[in-house]
Amino acid sequence: MTSNITFTIIKPLAVSKGYAGPILNKISESGFKITALKMLQLTQKEAETFYEVHKERPFYNDLVEFMVSGPIVVGVLEKENAVEDYRQLIGATDPAKAEEGTIRKLYADSVQANAVHGSDSDENAAIEASFFFSASDRF
Ligand code: CMP
Repeated sequence: MTSNITFTIIKPLAVSKGYAGPILNKISESGFKITALKMLQLTQKEAETFYEVHKERPFYNDLVEFMVSGPIVVGVLEKENAVEDYRQLIGATDPAKAEEGTIRKLYADSVQANAVHGSDSDENAAIEASFFFSASDRF
């Protein structure tokens, strides 16, 4: 099935380095419509809940600490085949392995500070978008 929406986070280091604008521009230029967008700083509890699926991983505590370290930009993106196409656009989780021209290759520092998050399935896109946006915040 082809999905129509995906969910993204522009992570703290990318935001603090001033990359939110260029990243959003690349998203738009790549054919995604931004249907919800906001800037916020996660609480510890929110970050723990959002990344709960990684709770048993050795990097979980560091990941949560990083994600609460500064403001982030969260958004819902619409496009045919959104989940898969966005994962192509952002590149591999580890920026050292990401292809040239991808968002992570251009703007990421490390596997933890990897500039952006993108949903890995239609189901998670819906869950993640609802985590941050009520129906009235989506257009
Ligand atoms: P994200 O798409 O936000 O989803 C889970 C995050 O965990 C991932 O991006 C990375 O930032 C982080 N992550 C995944 N693997 C590792 C790892 N081996 N070490 C540190 N962080 C990781």
